[in-house]
Amino acid sequence: MFSLAGKVALVTGASRGIGRADALALARAGADVVITDILLESDADEKVLETTVAGQLLRDRGVVYAEQTAEEIRQLGRRAAVFKMDVTDREQVARVVTGVVKEFGRIDILVNNAAMLDHVATIENQNDKLWERDLRINLTGAYNCAKAVWPHMKEQHWGRIINMSSVAGTMGGFGQASYSSTKAGVIGLTRSLALEGARYQITSNAIVPGIIGTEAWKMGNPKMNERMIARTAFRRPGEPEDIAHAVVFLASEEAKYITGIELYVAGGINLFTF
Ligand SMILES: NC(=O)c1ccc[n+]([C@@H]2O[C@H](COP(=O)([O-])OP(=O)(O)OC[C@H]3O[C@@H](n4cnc5c(N)ncnc54)[C@H](O)[C@@H]3O)[C@@H](O)[C@H]2O)c1
Repeated sequence: MFSLAGKVALVTGASRGIGRADALALARAGADVVITDILLESDADEKVLETTVAGQLLRDRGVVYAEQTAEEIRQLGRRAAVFKMDVTDREQVARVVTGVVKEFGRIDILVNNAAMLDHVATIENQNDKLWERDLRINLTGAYNCAKAVWPHMKEQHWGRIINMSSVAGTMGGFGQASYSSTKAGVIGLTRSLALEGARYQITSNAIVPGIIGTEAWKMGNPKMNERMIARTAFRRPGEPEDIAHAVVFLASEEAKYITGIELYVAGGINLFTF
């Protein structure tokens, strides 16, 4: 079950965290994988580093693994490629997708994972620039990538679009106006694409992660993180692989009649706890 042999997957924001785990799991299931991220370990683009504070910090700490992940995938016997791709840059996205189709012959699975999670402030203190940035990356970025792969999936009469939402999108989040709005928007995008894609056997689904213990999450406020854990049913964060397994399932042939859903991988954080 769940063999992705012969399929080609593109994952955005795959340099670390959940995206990296998704890329590895898709490869283990048999897919060739294209890793894309705004930040690569060999990156000398200081402007990008300056403009993504989290990126700067994580690179300084050596927590960027795009090229390493591609190497791990090749060792599994799959093909892998790495592209520097900013999801907000439509021309760059189009160039990468054209390049993938040229090099790999097709594109079957898109995982819209790239996002910024670091803007936390109450409404009076929301930073207008970061509000715009979050919309551009987290929501418009997913739209840009879906639009770019769409003609290829349509022509193949087969496609899987998997969008990373969040419980902040389905429940709201204190101090997360921009982030939760983008993640709610991702669900609207997911459902519309599900309706439009059905005639071409393109499915579109959202995954709703709860608290996943990635490097980015660990950089958050420790007290806030503790409170989040306390309200999950499991009383612990999930692992990136928990999300990756759901991605493999939704990408598989077996999930062909599932479209337009929100699949919670959230450890019960969305349940009524007291
Ligand atoms: N970690 C959690 O608890 C959690 C919970 C709910 C949802 N999510 C979602 O899961 C996804 C991954 O989260 P994570 O914890 O692994 O975060 P992360 O910050 O480790 O990963 C995000 C990746 O996106 C990349 N990125 C940022 N801006 C980009 C851009 N403009 N173009 C291309 N790539 C860009 C970053 O460089 C990074 O590699 C996100 O969509 C996030 O909203 C995470």
